[in-house]
Amino acid sequence: MKKKDEEHHTEPLGTGESGESLTNRQGHPVTDNQNVRTVGNRGPTTLENYDFLEKISHFDRERIPERVVHARGAGAHGYFEAYGKVGDESPALYTRAKLFQEKGKRTPVFVRFSTVVGARESTETARDPRGFAVKFYTEDGNWDLVGNNLKIFFIRDPLKFPDMIHAFKPDPVTNIQDPERMFDFVSQSPEATHMITFVFSPWGIPANYRQMQGSGVNTYKWVNEKGEAVLIKYHWEPLKQGIKNLTQKEAEHIQATNTNHATQDLFEAIENGDYPEWELCVQMMSDEEHPELDFDPLDPTKLWPAEQFPFLPVGKMVLNKNPENYFNEVEQAAFGTGVLVDGLDFSDDKLLQGRTFSYSDTQRYRVGSNYLQLPINSPEKRVATNQQGGQMEYHVDTAPGQNPHTNYEPSSLGGLKEAEQIGDVHKPHYDDKLVREPIDRQNNFGQAGDTYRSFEPWEQEELISNLVEALSVCQPHIQEKMIEHFTKADEDYGRRVAEGLKAAGTMSKEHTSSKQADEAVDEAQKLGHKA
Ligand code: HEM
Repeated sequence: MKKKDEEHHTEPLGTGESGESLTNRQGHPVTDNQNVRTVGNRGPTTLENYDFLEKISHFDRERIPERVVHARGAGAHGYFEAYGKVGDESPALYTRAKLFQEKGKRTPVFVRFSTVVGARESTETARDPRGFAVKFYTEDGNWDLVGNNLKIFFIRDPLKFPDMIHAFKPDPVTNIQDPERMFDFVSQSPEATHMITFVFSPWGIPANYRQMQGSGVNTYKWVNEKGEAVLIKYHWEPLKQGIKNLTQKEAEHIQATNTNHATQDLFEAIENGDYPEWELCVQMMSDEEHPELDFDPLDPTKLWPAEQFPFLPVGKMVLNKNPENYFNEVEQAAFGTGVLVDGLDFSDDKLLQGRTFSYSDTQRYRVGSNYLQLPINSPEKRVATNQQGGQMEYHVDTAPGQNPHTNYEPSSLGGLKEAEQIGDVHKPHYDDKLVREPIDRQNNFGQAGDTYRSFEPWEQEELISNLVEALSVCQPHIQEKMIEHFTKADEDYGRRVAEGLKAAGTMSKEHTSSKQADEAVDEAQKLGHKA
């Protein structure tokens, strides 16, 4: 017969008896964790069951609100190692940010990967962009690079973001995700055609979180010692693990047996010492409007062509440590686009500016007003503010030697002083009317066509078949609008979607006739000649 402690040993969980005895959160020993206190052993229970009430009421509050987007995620710790160069040049020519300057300099990082639309425990095989958020704990405080796997986005104006997410998330009545609602929005947002082309191709289902690229998507700036700026886009390129995407069928096959495959893949790779690595590259452009381009460089629905704006490596990132506790580190992690260090700046990209308000706003609600005091979010650098109070304040941010009575600035009584400005301030000049207007160089379809033509034949086939399947449930006016957009991008693209829908017989469902289907194909062909 087995001894008692042998019976309780299970492989990965290990340990068995720790020797420590159970307490409640007041530090009182818990001597009976099996029975509530009752009058007689059949009840009723009594109200002064302090340990029970504490245990159950804490349990009742175990969940915090999930992220309004990117709710499902996985995270890991690691480091960023600078090459001390940007391409062949010194980073100092372009940015004074300290983390890039010295070859071999390491900065600790925490990364959270995610899907976008699904809820906290949703499947990781979804056709969806993937979040790629990196927190650099630099000597100058934190820098968050909050990106996605794809290099562009659906929209360019932040005012449209809540509507877009409402259309992509489940229907408010049925709680079912509905491609018709999604394409209703997208068909009236022509700037989304490029992103839709990526998302419905195999690039819309990365095989896992390790084998995908990352991108900051929005345009940022680098600022040097003299206060001069260049426009910058950031990209993460997977190193040894490479890139891998899934076909719809492959994804369905995985989903049939595993809804956590990407989290599991990342956790197990790190546990087995197979640490994933990415190279950080930047694309650079002078800080001007660039009228010679057929797109606006600040438009996040556009790629900056790599031939004109080469990818310049600046360092690599290695993820080598799993979180010790999912909730503390991954769920409570808070990233935001406003979190920049000296030498990095915002561009005038409107989407970026809208995002920058949204992140810390939602985190004060989701995690709490003192979310920056949690270890995963606080910088390694000393924090010294005059902020105080708020729910769950854990400590006061006083500096050594600070007069604790002086929680204001300016003061002559031993309070905190403003930091010294290092390097010249970047001072962009503005002279324009205050307006509500779309940008001039929208070019909503040109790059969508380039992207379609850049796909391999099997990727194009997947794209067409995935679009046809999703559009099949949409009303004809939505299908027709989408065909029009695809045709403007590339004649062959629009024609294949139209033919696919016709062949599937779905354009003649209750709302339309086969005559209308024929007209849509004809219309697509006509538009193609004009495009
Ligand atoms: C998460 C807003 C566009 C990448 C979030 C969250 C909000 C938000 C409110 C939840 C944050 C939290 O609860 O901690 C917005 C708005 C956008 C926008 C208003 C446009 C106006 C984008 C774009 C990207 C992106 C263009 C990609 C470059 C992410 C990522 C996360 C996230 C990766 C998850 C961060 C994490 O892992 O905690 N976004 N977003 N978002 N967003 Fe955005």
